[in-house]
Amino acid sequence: MSFAAVDPLFLALNAISNRDLEGVAEVGDFCLRCHTPAAWLEGRSEPVDGSALKEKDFKYGVACDLCMRMVDPLTEEGKALSRPDTMVYANGQYVLEDDYVRRGPYSDPQSPHKSQYSEFHTKSEFCGTCHDIYNPVYNLETPVETTYSEWLYSAYSEEGVECQDCHMPAVEGYAAYAGNLELRDNIYRHEFAGSSVWMPDVLVWMYELEPGEVEALMKTKERARETMRSAADLEARREGDMLVVRVTNLAGHKLPTGYPEGRRMWLNIRFYDDAGRVIKESGRYDPVSAELVKDDEIKVYEAKPGLKDVDGFSEGPSFHFAMNNWIYKDNRIPPRGFSNRAYEERMAYIRGATYEDGQYWDTTVYAIPVGAVRVKVFLWHQSVSKEFIEFLRDENIGNNWDIFDAGEKMYAAWEALDRSPPVEMAGVEVPL
Ligand code: HEC
Ligand code: HEC
Ligand code: HEC
Repeated sequence: MSFAAVDPLFLALNAISNRDLEGVAEVGDFCLRCHTPAAWLEGRSEPVDGSALKEKDFKYGVACDLCMRMVDPLTEEGKALSRPDTMVYANGQYVLEDDYVRRGPYSDPQSPHKSQYSEFHTKSEFCGTCHDIYNPVYNLETPVETTYSEWLYSAYSEEGVECQDCHMPAVEGYAAYAGNLELRDNIYRHEFAGSSVWMPDVLVWMYELEPGEVEALMKTKERARETMRSAADLEARREGDMLVVRVTNLAGHKLPTGYPEGRRMWLNIRFYDDAGRVIKESGRYDPVSAELVKDDEIKVYEAKPGLKDVDGFSEGPSFHFAMNNWIYKDNRIPPRGFSNRAYEERMAYIRGATYEDGQYWDTTVYAIPVGAVRVKVFLWHQSVSKEFIEFLRDENIGNNWDIFDAGEKMYAAWEALDRSPPVEMAGVEVPL
């Protein structure tokens, strides 16, 4: 999160969003509100191209102080601090108090600054503040990211399993490096691992970082890999002439969730003959061209937002993030205990797939070719597709809003760093 403002994927897309909405909305102000909140609070999010940002705005991104000062907008204190039109727990509508009292999950805080217990910091609503996004350009009637809503209408929220339980697990340690602190057994790891296995390498490649930052990023990368390996259960079995493959979602929201553009998860099936040759493959990825090869049986889990009836833009799936007003596809697997009705109401739409209420797995069937003696099944995830990277480069050619040349730099990083290689989430081998 601390790199949220220098993330070149962010900067490249921010530039395109600003261009797409030029004269209509100052959209970059909205983006910077979440990606570098201190800059937004102190009035440097305009000009919206980021030209007024200071070094510290880039360096700290979503920083400690923002989160530590957040107040629940539904408490008496929060109501007194917020405007009546504040959306609760969405769209970066954070509510802060001015006194810099740091809040956290301990009823016995020990720290060199003013501190106080806050239940809000232990709840998913806290994260929902930024991890539930609806597009203001379309009167909030179009979803952008709905991770919090997906969680809210799942078994996890009913059981009281919060975002923090999975993304900030408790470990033994000291709360800060302030000295004289008590060793606690419930320090919450601030690593926020998600699917970004590749982005840490990009940041190290692109910027001159301090050794401590590089070390932290490499740790983040390993944690992201572990998170991805714990996200799904994969099973494959033979039924007659068919291979039945089942993917079960073990995460607390859709699998995968969140930021949709260019992200995808897919099944890769390799049938072998008795000489060890691959005689049939579905979901083949070519690492040289970075293309996912289409076939009749391929299963790709992804969201494809797009445009419908927008002047000046062609209809269909698109990467024009801020302009998109339609969900063409979203077959990402829902979490345990989800409900179709609630998902429709919260705009966490499911499109191009049918899941029964509560169904948190998906099955795909493949024809077993003659001569196959065994099969290997893999579940892959890729955080940035070739199509998206090319879009970011091409759309930023001649774009005056791209003051950081982020489109081109992102492309160069992609070429230098193995084109965002897919990450193996799970793999099984079955004799046939
Ligand atoms: C039961 C454990 C669990 C809970 C609860 C949970 N997550 Fe996750 N989360 C995961 C796993 C596993 C992944 C990796 C798979 C994926 O990308 O969906 C993940 C991925 C993510 C990602 C990365 C998505 C991306 O595109 O890189 C974000 C962001 C995230 N979670 C936020 C949240 C928020 C916010 C909440 C609470 C509203 C939450 N999570 C609750 C387990 C959990
Ligand atoms: C002030 C807004 C804000 C709040 C509050 C917030 N996040 Fe985030 N979070 C972000 C932004 C912005 C990013 C994306 C950074 C990027 O990749 O450029 C992010 C990224 C993440 C990721 C990493 C996704 C990946 O791709 O690997 C996880 C996991 C995550 N957040 C979890 C949480 C959890 C859990 C909470 C609550 C304890 C939380 N966040 C609260 C803004 C926020
Ligand atoms: C309400 C808060 C919020 C706003 C507003 C917001 N973002 Fe984000 N953004 C996030 C969070 C949270 C994530 C991480 C989610 C995930 O990884 O699934 C994210 C992730 C991203 C990513 C993916 C980064 C990566 O390395 O994978 C890009 C690109 C991005 N945002 C661009 C934008 C742009 C451009 C805008 C404005 C049009 C914008 N965001 C507005 C919260 C926000």
